[in-house]
Amino acid sequence: MKKITIAIDGFSSTGKSTIAKQLAKKLHYIYVDSGAMYRAVTLYFMQHDLISKHKFNKNKLIIALEKIELKFKFNEKLGYGEIYLNNVNVESKIRSLEVSNLVSKVAEVSEIRKKMVTQQQAMGINKGIVMDGRDIGTVVFPKAELKLFITASADVRAKRRFDELTKKGDKVSFDSILKNVKERDFIDTTRKDSPLIKAGDAIEIDNSKLGLEEQFQKIYKIALKIINKD
Ligand code: DC
Repeated sequence: MKKITIAIDGFSSTGKSTIAKQLAKKLHYIYVDSGAMYRAVTLYFMQHDLISKHKFNKNKLIIALEKIELKFKFNEKLGYGEIYLNNVNVESKIRSLEVSNLVSKVAEVSEIRKKMVTQQQAMGINKGIVMDGRDIGTVVFPKAELKLFITASADVRAKRRFDELTKKGDKVSFDSILKNVKERDFIDTTRKDSPLIKAGDAIEIDNSKLGLEEQFQKIYKIALKIINKD
């Protein structure tokens, strides 16, 4: 069967990664969470006291970037690759609200984006990949055979993230999450370098009212149609 590249973009907490993981599993493709890469870089900066709510020196961050090595290692049990920052699994740590609050600022820096994009393109060189993020269909894989743009209302997305974090035991308020979701939407869509926009040839899916299975069947059908086309 022909292998294609699948690019999934959209706002934060729209369930892009759930769709991407489902598709990758079903098609036996590699799944790459590009947001995890920006989050891991942010975590490194936090761990080295280079960034905080009141601290942001772009030049220092660019210099420190050289010391960061990111890798995805496949986890058999989970069925996808987990992210490693300088050989340490940080999959769980990068999901904290603190990282979420700082990551959009980090993702605005062009030098950081360049390094991430180069690595992402290398991972997709043989196709058979599903990658989710903000600029996958526009910048990373502009020639992807299937591009999806996922949306949902800010309230629905904040509720999803709230449930995810409280389930993990994090003590967070719904209002702080909603504020974070809206702030990130603003930064992601208005930044100069690679803002979040729908690629002209992307298929838009609003999943505010779609069930997981219903959504998956809809997308899987579209993917198969493209894969089976000569
Ligand atoms: O998908 P996520 O919420 O884990 O992404 C974290 C942040 O990283 C998000 O605020 C925007 C940024 N990001 C990006 O700029 N480009 C990508 N391809 C993926 C994520």
